[in-house]
Amino acid sequence: MSIPSTTTSVLLNTGAEMPLLGLGTYKLVGYADVYRAVDAALAAGYRSFDSAAVYRNEADVGRALKELLPKHGSCREDIFITSKLGPKDQGERSMEGALQSLSQLDLGYIDLYLIHWPGTQGMDVTDPRNPGNRAQSWATLEELHAQGKLKAIGVSNYTPAHMKELMQSCKTPPAVLQVEFHPQLCQTELRNVCQEYGVCFQSYSSLGKGELITHPDVMEVAKHCGRTPAQVLLRWAVQQGIPVLPKSSNPDRIKDNAKIFDFTLSDADMDRLSGLDCGHKYCWDASQVI
Ligand SMILES: NC(=O)c1ccc[n+]([C@@H]2O[C@H](COP(=O)([O-])OP(=O)(O)OC[C@H]3O[C@@H](n4cnc5c(N)ncnc54)[C@H](OP(=O)(O)O)[C@@H]3O)[C@@H](O)[C@H]2O)c1
Repeated sequence: MSIPSTTTSVLLNTGAEMPLLGLGTYKLVGYADVYRAVDAALAAGYRSFDSAAVYRNEADVGRALKELLPKHGSCREDIFITSKLGPKDQGERSMEGALQSLSQLDLGYIDLYLIHWPGTQGMDVTDPRNPGNRAQSWATLEELHAQGKLKAIGVSNYTPAHMKELMQSCKTPPAVLQVEFHPQLCQTELRNVCQEYGVCFQSYSSLGKGELITHPDVMEVAKHCGRTPAQVLLRWAVQQGIPVLPKSSNPDRIKDNAKIFDFTLSDADMDRLSGLDCGHKYCWDASQVI
């Protein structure tokens, strides 16, 4: 599937629109750095921000947004905030963890709240309590969703098996699956599962944590398109209708990474990039979590 360059959002199964471009905030820590990045992002047109309890920046992201939205002529309803339940709060502590995210962000509600990881911190990946813990977390998210505190709920780092398990037991289906996705990790099976269940497939580490920017094929495509390697990697994903969350702490790069809605990659360039698929992961791997 190829979408027009002017499309900037996707429709979730909740009926809400989610921007195709969001600012990743992993490793953005300390109020000054968060403020600078959020300021640059709002100026460049970002309206989506991806945080998590484990990033330890929910309070700073929320505070920066409250301070900066008026400066950029925007209000709370104009932006889309994602956060995630930490693996240490999986299961019994899930209500406490989710309420803590809501209070740290302090933005009234969270647009999208994800179970960050299918396992539980401190438990072996093969621990038989893992499935019960994530089911309990999901029930918590469903409850807070019904109360309107979490506008949409979803999961992250789930495998096809975890997705099937969730779909068989849930009352509210997940709106989003956020996983690692870039030309070296095309995730065909997971994308098919998401399509079958009506779940939005979202990409993280679209730049391969910055490492794919120097890949020779990516650099060549960028050169003949007159774009940066980062823009090419991000365009490759959004052109397939897949939302991205590039992280940068550098205001110039934040601005540069947003310029992905004014060009289209040719079919040949799309295929060349997709041809790099080799199952390579730059981030964590949940395939062993039962
Ligand atoms: N759900 C999960 O488990 C999970 C896991 C990983 C990530 N995520 C989310 O996805 C976001 C993005 O993933 P990520 O942080 O792993 O990696 P990424 O976005 O693929 O890459 C970020 C790295 O690329 C560099 N970079 C960004 N733009 C650049 C440009 N135009 N030119 C050169 N270098 C550039 C950044 O450095 P500078 O900061 O110095 O610019 C940073 O080191 C995270 O921040 C987080 O919100 C979620």
